[in-house]
Amino acid sequence: MENQGDVNIPSFGGPWTGQKLEILRRYLDAYTTALKCQPFQLTYVDAFAGTGSYTSAVDAYEEFYELRSGSTRIALDIDDKPFDKLTLIEKDVRRVRDLRELKKEYPGRDIRIVESDANWEIPSFCNNMSGLDRAVVFLDPYATQVSWATIEAIADAGKIDCWILFPLMAVTRMMPTENEPDETLANQLDRVFGGREHWRQSYTYSHQLSIWRDEPRRKRAPGSEQIASRYRDRLNTVFSSVAGTRRTLRNSKNAPLFELFFAATNPTGVDIADYILKHW
Ligand SMILES: C[S@@+](CC[C@H](N)C(=O)[O-])C[C@H]1O[C@@H](n2cnc3c(N)ncnc32)[C@H](O)[C@@H]1O
Repeated sequence: MENQGDVNIPSFGGPWTGQKLEILRRYLDAYTTALKCQPFQLTYVDAFAGTGSYTSAVDAYEEFYELRSGSTRIALDIDDKPFDKLTLIEKDVRRVRDLRELKKEYPGRDIRIVESDANWEIPSFCNNMSGLDRAVVFLDPYATQVSWATIEAIADAGKIDCWILFPLMAVTRMMPTENEPDETLANQLDRVFGGREHWRQSYTYSHQLSIWRDEPRRKRAPGSEQIASRYRDRLNTVFSSVAGTRRTLRNSKNAPLFELFFAATNPTGVDIADYILKHW
């Protein structure tokens, strides 16, 4: 829910929201069941936690809405083998208030609510993991908030399975096809990809004849598929396993909005994620 004064206004989720959350739910269920008899302490980390719920249209005309479970409530409701701990990171103070209300519904559960920036909090979470700690991290931003340094910290921990919602439409818009991005956009892309060379490979020289001279310009192929592939290649440089299957989440006009990736140290996690991504 989003609080505006005293009125609660739930966050809106499009059809893609239900898809990503169902994939997450199936994975969390399979993950906790698979590790049920192991001596690990299992933590679920929601780095962009939201409020615990979202509203979704229930008719084609988007006139009627219902309240559905968001990622934090889904993780809390995994019950075959519940998570031992949950860390919920949220930057927005009003949403943090909603998370505190959510926590009251689950007395006895070990829930840590952190009002902070995920890019600050995740590296410190990773540094503090000890021998038998294992975690699933869900990175579910609205746009380009996830810095590459955060992805590296997760990969370096060597004990984390990670779902990453990559903002494909936002990044595609930041990368014009006819020219390279300006310096402001280039700096943002550097932060997302962890270096200029990683996104700049999408641009190649193309000669444009003008009446004055033959001007070489750097262009990129239209569309977003190549950008999604570049990001997966990037994930492969830091994680030992990245799911071969990924899911493109599309808006109601069928345009690619996000790309859902799974990466981990543990190859079993990748097999489970691949299965879910292929069959659901
Ligand atoms: C897409 S919503 C998350 C939805 C949630 N996972 C769910 O399923 O209900 C993204 C959330 O991230 C929060 N947010 C944005 N930037 C952030 C940051 N840098 N660190 C932590 N939270 C952030 C927003 O306030 C918002 O609640």
